[in-house]
Amino acid sequence: MKKLIIINGPNLNLLGKRETNIYGNLSFSDFFERISNKYPNVTLEHYQSNVEGELIDKIQEVGYHYDGIILNAAAYTHTSIGIGDAVKAISTPVIEVHISNTFSREEFRHKSYISPNARGVVLGFGLQSYELAIQSFLD
Ligand code: DQA
Repeated sequence: MKKLIIINGPNLNLLGKRETNIYGNLSFSDFFERISNKYPNVTLEHYQSNVEGELIDKIQEVGYHYDGIILNAAAYTHTSIGIGDAVKAISTPVIEVHISNTFSREEFRHKSYISPNARGVVLGFGLQSYELAIQSFLD
């Protein structure tokens, strides 16, 4: 059984009420319940923090024995050398995910400190981006 974790960064705890025109109406907990039921053969966990260092701690904690990390570092994607370094340091593969198409938005969202060390990047498919990332770990 594959062991995967979704790690969400700042403000993603507000999904469902935050800029719903961009991020949709569904809360992450409702979405997480849906995908957990859909992939019963995967051990799927979820962690969210608004704090950069806590995200780094979690990446280090899981990064040597989980089968995959699905990481939406949110705004820290565009600013955090520390999260980028953590992704580089670990052995577990990371898929970078974004709900929105960051390349169709402001220029400051075009830069990612995660992408150079990610196995792949999925963006712009709404919450389905997470699901496509999960599928990439399945045979
Ligand atoms: C996001 C895109 C980021 O630019 C933004 O700061 C977010 C969410 C996304 O999932 O589309 O908070 O990572």
